Amino acid sequence: MSRFLELEDVRYAYPGQNHVVHGVSLHIAPGDFHCLIGRSGCGKTTLLKLAAGLLQPQSGAVTLQGVPVSEPTADMGFVFQSPTLLEWLTVLDNVLLPIALHGKVQAAQHEKAKALLDQLDLNGMQSRYPQQLSGGQQSRVAIARALITAPPILFMDEPFASLDAITRSELQQDLLALCQSQGTSVLFITHDIAEAVYLADNVSVMQSGTICHQLAVDLLHPRQPALRYTADFNARCAELRQAMDGSL
Ligand SMILES: Nc1ncnc2c1ncn2[C@@H]1O[C@H](COP(=O)(O)OP(=O)(O)OP(=O)(O)O)[C@@H](O)[C@H]1O
Ligand SMILES: [Mg+2]
Repeated sequence: MSRFLELEDVRYAYPGQNHVVHGVSLHIAPGDFHCLIGRSGCGKTTLLKLAAGLLQPQSGAVTLQGVPVSEPTADMGFVFQSPTLLEWLTVLDNVLLPIALHGKVQAAQHEKAKALLDQLDLNGMQSRYPQQLSGGQQSRVAIARALITAPPILFMDEPFASLDAITRSELQQDLLALCQSQGTSVLFITHDIAEAVYLADNVSVMQSGTICHQLAVDLLHPRQPALRYTADFNARCAELRQAMDGSL
């Protein structure tokens, strides 16, 4: 397997705690959609922060394309549970923010931002301000902002947790299409087992700071909504559920 993001025997504890991430090795290939699931408090967000250079491991190594990760880089995009848009900027300017922070925005980048907004069903909303959008629309803007620089890897921490089921499945579909077209690798945290199976090429189940189970989701791409009602899909959900229950 060609290697891209690699975590090797990574350990981390916050001050005064025994261990939070305890000897995790994880390999994410180029274009791989990797989901991380596990019970609340098992260390998922901490592991994502270690993978993205937002925290430094106390032992072990994190490398991106062979280079040690010591801080977040321009190669990385982020989407968190709260969309964290800047309320004084329009939708278009929020999407262009990662570029504007580093210099003047070129016409082609404007066009790219508009195209992303179109792909995410936000055409006609580029001049609105975040408070004039629904929660789902704000999440879409956050995804467009994360993808505007076409980062090779996207880190997503429960980005759809606060959305209704239908909006959520629409966003899953849009995210898969965008990542597929840009060849983006993704590390995606969710509590939703079905979301993990639908999105992922690989799922890692975390328990008490370690990875207790891994599943390669060998279901056909592109994923279609009808897949959710198949026996193959449900068998993989059941396997992950058992892994989370500790009964595998
Ligand atoms: N900044 C911090 N300082 C001290 N302890 C922390 C800090 N952040 C998280 N923890 C602790 O580390 C453990 C793992 O937290 P983490 O946020 O990684 O869990 P999680 O799996 O993402 O949980 P959730 O599903 O609820 O988001 C928890 O026991 C938590 O209380
Ligand atoms: Mg978390």
